[in-house]
Amino acid sequence: IERTLSIIKPDATNRNLTGKINAKFEDAGLRIVAQKRIKLSMEQAGKFYEVHKERPFYGELCEFMASAPVVVQVLEGENAIAKNREVMGATNPANADAGTIRKEFALSVGENSVHGSDAAETAAQEIAFFFSGLELVG
Ligand code: GTP
Ligand code: MG
Repeated sequence: IERTLSIIKPDATNRNLTGKINAKFEDAGLRIVAQKRIKLSMEQAGKFYEVHKERPFYGELCEFMASAPVVVQVLEGENAIAKNREVMGATNPANADAGTIRKEFALSVGENSVHGSDAAETAAQEIAFFFSGLELVG
């Protein structure tokens, strides 16, 4: 059993889509084992997305992520990391498969509704970034 870090981004929380997105995760067999709604500062967003700091969209990405509350969550299931990325769909909603979260809800490549960890190592780092041990029950 595996865990991954998911973020429901500001474009989705602004449009009140948290429940509809969570239903997609649950329908795919992913269990939401931790969840909280928080507002990131620019500094926190910058730290979370540090791997992208040389990319041209870094500033825009951090401003977007700090623009409104996000819902951070831990999803659990068999192959949760890969399964979540399948449910999310391609980064750019124009390239996302039918039925995916990004195809149904994303507005653009930047405002693309969800984040999901991309590997076991980053999942562990990203979960620890947002959740303490006490918030993660078995
Ligand atoms: P994440 O799960 O969010 O990491 O998405 P990803 O792995 O599908 O995409 P990637 O890691 O390449 O990029 C991280 C995030 O940066 C994306 O989810 C987008 O929100 C944003 N992003 C990527 N490319 C662009 C772009 O060309 N323009 C803008 N504004 N944002 C981008
Ligand atoms: Mg990524």
